[in-house]
Amino acid sequence: MLKSHTCGELRESHIGQRVTLAGWVNRRRDHGGLIFIDLRDRFGLTQVTIDSESAAAAHAVADQARNEYVLQVSGVVQARPAGFENPNLETGAIEVIADAVTILNPAKTPPFYISGNADEVDEALRLKYRYLDLRRPRMANNLALRHRIVRFIREYFSARDFLEIETPILLKSTPEGARDFVVPSRLHPHEFYALPQSPQQLKQLLMVGGIERYFQIARCFRDEDLRADRQLEFTQLDVEMSFVDAADIRALIEGMLIELAREVSPKPIWKVPFPVLTYAEAMDKYGIDRPDLRFGVELVNVGAAVARSEFSVFRNALAAGGQVKGLVYPGGASIARREIDELTDFVKQYGAKGLVWIGVTAAPGADGFYAEEALRSQVTKFLSPVEIRDLITAAGAQPGDLILAVADKPSVVAQSLCNLRLEVGRRAGLIDTSVLAFCWVVDFPLLEYNEDEKRWQAVHHPFTSALDDHWERLERDPGSVLAKAYDVILNGWELGGGSIRIHRSDLQDRLFAMLGMGRAEMDQRFGHMLEAFQYGAPPHGGIALGIDRVVALFAETPSIRDVIAFPKTAMGTDLMLETPSPISEEQLAELHIMLRPAKEPAR
Ligand code: AMO
Ligand code: AMP
Repeated sequence: MLKSHTCGELRESHIGQRVTLAGWVNRRRDHGGLIFIDLRDRFGLTQVTIDSESAAAAHAVADQARNEYVLQVSGVVQARPAGFENPNLETGAIEVIADAVTILNPAKTPPFYISGNADEVDEALRLKYRYLDLRRPRMANNLALRHRIVRFIREYFSARDFLEIETPILLKSTPEGARDFVVPSRLHPHEFYALPQSPQQLKQLLMVGGIERYFQIARCFRDEDLRADRQLEFTQLDVEMSFVDAADIRALIEGMLIELAREVSPKPIWKVPFPVLTYAEAMDKYGIDRPDLRFGVELVNVGAAVARSEFSVFRNALAAGGQVKGLVYPGGASIARREIDELTDFVKQYGAKGLVWIGVTAAPGADGFYAEEALRSQVTKFLSPVEIRDLITAAGAQPGDLILAVADKPSVVAQSLCNLRLEVGRRAGLIDTSVLAFCWVVDFPLLEYNEDEKRWQAVHHPFTSALDDHWERLERDPGSVLAKAYDVILNGWELGGGSIRIHRSDLQDRLFAMLGMGRAEMDQRFGHMLEAFQYGAPPHGGIALGIDRVVALFAETPSIRDVIAFPKTAMGTDLMLETPSPISEEQLAELHIMLRPAKEPAR
C-alpha cells in the first residue's frame, strides 16, 4: 500500500503516530517557510504542513506541487496549534508534519476547480472531464450512496428467497413504448438484435420456468427523448413473483422502501402505510398520475357552479364537452398583477388559452353574496352574483385566497393545472421538503386510444392483466377496462411501476387482438410467450423501480445524471468518449450494412 491511512481518517487519537498519506493536492498555501497542502482522497481532506527548516528536501518538492498533483507524504500526526483547528473538517483537529514528499504524478491545470463550487460549472465541461468531476466530494458521495442502496436492495431480496438472475442484453424487441436500440448481426446478415427496454418478457418466462421469486439490477435501453429523469440507458430494480396478487407485490416493495428510507435518509416518511390513490382520483385531484403529496392545493371541478354561465370562456369549453377546473392559491389574493400575468403565461405553455383569476379579498355579506370590493378579478363582470358565490364555495376559497381556473378539454385542463399546482406550491413555499411523500397509484386504464394511429394501445405494456371482472367488456368497451397495474411515487416522481400479468394464452390472444395484431404478427413477435403460456404458466406479477431515480431522490439532486458515473447528455451523447461516432467501412461491410443519406432524426 502506498498509504497507511486515508485522508479522512486521522483524529486526535492518532497524534504522535507516523503515517503515510497519498492523494491529490486540493489546495496549496505557501507561507514562505511553511507550505500547507490540503491532501484529498475520496475519504476526505488532511492538512499537511511542510517546514523548510526541519524538512528542507520535502519542502523543495512541495514547492513544486500544484493543484491536482498526486502526492505521497510521510510524517507525524500532530495537534494543530490552538486556534487553528477546523471544526468543519473531520480531520480538523490534527495536521501531518511531513518530512518526506513525493510527487507520484504531476497534473495539468484542471479546466475547473475541483475544490470550488463546481455546481456552477457548465455541465458540458463537467461531463467532458467526468473523471475530474468525480473527484468532487458531492459526486463521490452520490456514487457511494448508490452503492449502499444497491447493496441494501440485494440483501433485502436475498433475505426473502429471491434469486438474482441475469437476462440477455442482445434480445428481441420488447414493447415498453419507446424505440428499440438495435444491434446488427454479423453471422446473420440483415438481421438484428434489439437491446432490452426492460427484461419484461424474460422475467415472465422465468416464472413459467418455476423460479417463483426473481430480481435483477438490470440495465435497460430506450431510444427516447431525454429529460432530467430519463437516460437512454438506465438501471432498474426488476422484480417478478409467482402466486401473488397486486397487494403482495405492493407490500414487498413498500416494506423495502420504508427500510431503505430509514437506512439512507434523515427524513421521515410522510404517511405509512403509503396512501393508495386510484388513477381516476389522482387525475381528478392533481391532474397527473404521479402527484406530489408534500402539499395540498387539490384541483377542484367548478363546472357545476358555472354550468349555466353566459361567460364565453366557460360556456364554450363546457359546450364542447370540456371542463372548468381550478385551484386555490392560499393567501394569493394580494399577489402582484405581474405575478398573475406570469402564471397566465405559465399555463399557456401547457396549452391553456388563458387563466381565470378571482382574488377573494373579504368575506361575503350576511346574504352569502360577495360585494364588488370583496373581489379582485377581470372576469367577475361576466358572472352573476350567484355564479360567483357558487364558484368560490365550490373552490373552497377563504378571504385572502386566489382562485385560478382553466376551461378547456380535460387533457389541457389536467396538464396545465398539475403544473400550475406545482408552481403555486413553489412560489408560496407550500412544499414540505422535510418529508418523503410516497404513494401508490392503482387501477390504471388498461388501454388508451391512439388518435394518430386510430388504434388501441396498452397503457403499461401488453402483458398487463385487466381487473378480473373487467375482461368481459374488453371488446365491448375497451376504454373503460381497468388494469391490475400500480405505480409507486415519491415526491411527484414515478419511482416504479408494475402489474399482475396475463398468464393464460387465450386472454393474451384477446388482448393482442384488441391491439390490432393479426395472428401472424402475434406469432412472429410474441409466439414464444403465447407458447410458453400453454405449458402451465403460474399466475404472476411484478414491478420495476428506476434505481437512478431512487438514488437521485435520496441524494436530493434534480438530475439522475448526478448519480450515474458516466451519463449521456440530453442529446444522447457522451462528451468524454465522443459517442455516438462513425464506424469504419470494414466494420460496416462485415455487418452487411450500407449507409443511406441521413435525414433529421424523428422525435
Ligand atoms: P416502466 O416502463 O414503468 O416499467 O419502467 C419502470 C421504471 O423504470 C424507470 N425508468 C427510467 N429511468 C431512467 N431513464 C429512463 N429512460 C426510464 N424509463 C423508465 C422509472 C420507471 O418507473 N417492465 C416494466 C415493469 C413491470 O411491469 O414489471 C417496466 O419497465 O423509474
Ligand atoms: P378573453 O375573453 O380572451 O379576454 O379572456 C378573459 C379572461 O379569461 C382572461 O383573463 C383570460 O386569461 C381568461 N381565459 C381565456 N380563455 C380561458 C380558458 N380557456 N380558461 C381559463 N381562462 C381563460
